[in-house]
Amino acid sequence: MTMPLGSPARVPHGTKVCPSPRKNAILHFCDTARSAESEIITAGMHQHPVIIQGGMGAGVSSWRLAQAVSRLGQLGVVSGTALDQILIRRLQDGDPGGHMRRGLAAFPFPSIAERILSAYFIPGGKAATAPYLHTPSHSRHEPRELVELCIAANFVEVFLARDGHANPVGINYLEKVQLPHLPSLYGAMLAGVGYVLMGAGIPLHIPGVLDRLTQHLPAEYPLHITGAREGDDTLLHFDPRDYWQNSAAADPPPLHRPAFLAIVSSSTLATTMLRRANGRVDGLVIEARTAGGHNAPPRGKLQLTAQGEPIYGERDAIDFSRIRELGAPFWLAGGYGSPSKLQEALALGATGVQVGTAFAFTRESALRDDLKQALIEKARSGEARVFTDPLASPAGFPFKVAQLEGTASDAAVCAARPRICDLGFLSELVRDDDGSIVRRCPAEPLSLYLSKGGRAEDTAGRKCLCNALMANIGHPQIRGGSHVEPPLVTAGDDLTEIARFLPEGATTYTAADVLSALLAGVTPEPQLAAR
Ligand SMILES: Cc1cc2nc3c(=O)[nH]c(=O)nc-3n(C[C@H](O)[C@H](O)[C@H](O)COP(=O)(O)O)c2cc1C
Repeated sequence: MTMPLGSPARVPHGTKVCPSPRKNAILHFCDTARSAESEIITAGMHQHPVIIQGGMGAGVSSWRLAQAVSRLGQLGVVSGTALDQILIRRLQDGDPGGHMRRGLAAFPFPSIAERILSAYFIPGGKAATAPYLHTPSHSRHEPRELVELCIAANFVEVFLARDGHANPVGINYLEKVQLPHLPSLYGAMLAGVGYVLMGAGIPLHIPGVLDRLTQHLPAEYPLHITGAREGDDTLLHFDPRDYWQNSAAADPPPLHRPAFLAIVSSSTLATTMLRRANGRVDGLVIEARTAGGHNAPPRGKLQLTAQGEPIYGERDAIDFSRIRELGAPFWLAGGYGSPSKLQEALALGATGVQVGTAFAFTRESALRDDLKQALIEKARSGEARVFTDPLASPAGFPFKVAQLEGTASDAAVCAARPRICDLGFLSELVRDDDGSIVRRCPAEPLSLYLSKGGRAEDTAGRKCLCNALMANIGHPQIRGGSHVEPPLVTAGDDLTEIARFLPEGATTYTAADVLSALLAGVTPEPQLAAR
């Protein structure tokens, strides 16, 4: 992290400035209230970043983007969502550049890496009209093959993001996508992830899981199952020893416990996380409703504008003084991608900001180049529009949608898509009458959804985000040799502002352009240190 010595006005309330022992990292903050507890010792660093490049699923904040940001001394965060599917699609596309194979070669379980390669790697890539192979669906009792894939895919993404520098890298998960949590976290930890960030739910049980997995001990995670009855077993189980025993791998390596940052949208949730989590919460990302991706819904009964966007009121305003009083390091997110907003956040007592939208359109992000280009062009010409869609996401949260012809933001494109649910990351777990657990998604075929006890009114306006998100990063499912899944880009309200990162005369920009623009507001201007 880089943060210059300078004006006391920039120093977050409740912190003291400590000279950094590291060359180029000019200072770090030590939180006076929680110093011993909150000091982070990850991958040789014990300071928090000022800028967190927010995790962007699925695959948008890939290892390449996170590596670029972390190399420059801020926190790069890979998205951990659906990495199992992303790894196998990259392999089926021939693994251009050989990066997936490089990551798998470093994976501590060579036999698992070999199994994955022989099942999915296609030298030269699959035929353009061929569909991607499917894996079994995630379930409470995961097939071993899928657990192995999750461990490996999360390892590879973090390993690649950390490659070539010594700075920490984070990983982001959606709490709501629960089934892959345990093996995913373990894979990321085996690769030395420095921070775990989680929102879209209340991740009270993640800190305790991190404590257990750091010691390679079995971990459990309570699933949210609609209709579960008292006495039902709703726990997920994962035992790392199952993978070390009887394997040709060396002994389990000592692991660092990653810092855990909870992503929340209110001081009430922030308090809940700090008071009720089953282990240490190292900080909070406070995300406003202007942020890209999923947003918290308004409190109370949902009311919509004439255009159909949720109306937020005074009760939804974030109480910064209450958050500051909690004493934990915090970062502000949602419209903080400018030097003045960074200054504002620091003045409010934040350690820094989390920024997504500005990074989603950098050269290093994995968003398809044509989508990036079209939306940068719209921003440049003043035509960029973001719609907060209260219905699109099967997760049930409002979802920000960048308006772009040819994508599923377009009603005609949506209408032409047959309803199919074959990825199911966002599906809901429901208890069936016989006690078994079924998965249902309000974007799946209507009759199927109804047959699982779903209500027709819950299906209106839902979109298959899982397939769209794979299409966004260039791995669309193809059916019948010709139907290609359409993309659906999410971006925050700041989409309208991204052209400011373009260097003079350029039509693209990089993560370094974003970081130097943001930090230019911090005086004296810090020198970004490429390490
Ligand atoms: C393309 C995109 C995808 C995102 N996906 C996720 C995600 O998977 N998980 C998450 O916690 N936040 C996600 N976010 C939110 C960002 O991590 C970040 O908090 C947010 O973008 C900050 O606000 P800003 O968009 O105004 O910069 C996403 C944002 C964007 C733009």
